[in-house]
Amino acid sequence: MEEAMASRIRRIAVLTSGGDGPGFNPCIRAVVRTAINLDWDVIGIKWGYVGLINGEMVHLTRRSVGGIIGKGGTFLGTARSPEFRTKKGQVEALRNLNEWDVNALVVIGGDGSMRGAMALVEMGLPVIGLPGSIDNDLYGTDMCIGVDTALNTALEAMDRIKDTASSHQRAFLVEVMGRNCGYLALMSGVAGGAEMSCIPEVEFELEDVAREVSDAYVRGKTHCIISVAEGARYNANAIAAYLIENKAKTGFSVRVTILGHVQRGGSPTAFDRVLATRLGAAAVEALNRGESGVMMGLVGNVVKPIPMEDVANRVKELDSYMFELAQILAK
Ligand code: ADP
Ligand code: F6P
Repeated sequence: MEEAMASRIRRIAVLTSGGDGPGFNPCIRAVVRTAINLDWDVIGIKWGYVGLINGEMVHLTRRSVGGIIGKGGTFLGTARSPEFRTKKGQVEALRNLNEWDVNALVVIGGDGSMRGAMALVEMGLPVIGLPGSIDNDLYGTDMCIGVDTALNTALEAMDRIKDTASSHQRAFLVEVMGRNCGYLALMSGVAGGAEMSCIPEVEFELEDVAREVSDAYVRGKTHCIISVAEGARYNANAIAAYLIENKAKTGFSVRVTILGHVQRGGSPTAFDRVLATRLGAAAVEALNRGESGVMMGLVGNVVKPIPMEDVANRVKELDSYMFELAQILAK
């Protein structure tokens, strides 16, 4: 049965969707070259599901993906497509794939993109998903493509901020990305020695932050760094406004740095390049085994398939041990 399905594959397509991240390019490269190694044709779809609906497709060769392994972004382009959320958009997408004789698809993207991929699986197309998101918010995988680079970017900024914070005896709110997931805030906080991390998974009050800042001042610290996930209950500006109002209580003067999309760009780290390469190759190998409807992820340094249904419906849990450890180490 598996062999029968595998032998039907002659041509696959690959697309990147949703928010980009460093490592998407080496991932496309791995998909293209491992597929060509099996004598399959590869079609690149421009602009994610938007290009799938509009039929913006290009033939990819080994040379098409030359020189991109160290480049940030995605050379295929990415987008968010409200139209693809509708049945009409999905039918149009499938029609284009059939017109191009594409037998299977690899989707690189976040949890939304995996939901889109699942819609195509339900319509009968073999699809393998790959987790690409700097947020590290996908259920089932320890790491997503792009996270390590984004984390290192945030960390570098935090180290620099700490230098100037100490010189001026200031408290800094450093806002990092993460709409629903505090991974970047927590891990940049741990690696950067932040005094506190404010994340969406943990409720907190403005007074709690003021207390931490005040404690740091009383303990004789020359700086107080707080990493804040953009999706935390209060964002960095709101926290800063409260701290400024209560300066007499907290001691430090306050500044805010919002890192924003700087975290999404840049040359992928070695970790991201290797992860992207392993997952890209694993997607093609899975299709060749006749698999579909799964996202290849990293579990304890082993590449494993995770049912797309779980990725679509389940939430990645906070590593509460690391959250508690961060609090101990910050004292
Ligand atoms: P990410 O993949 O980074 O989480 P989004 O949540 O914006 O980014 O999702 C990317 C795209 O995936 C959306 O623009 C949409 O086209 C598609 N998508 C998201 N959710 C669904 C869904 N429930 N059904 C079909 N397509 C979806
Ligand atoms: O999902 C990844 C992410 O970078 C989030 O952290 C952030 O909230 C969002 O994408 C930003 O999206 P956009 O690039 O559309 O502004």
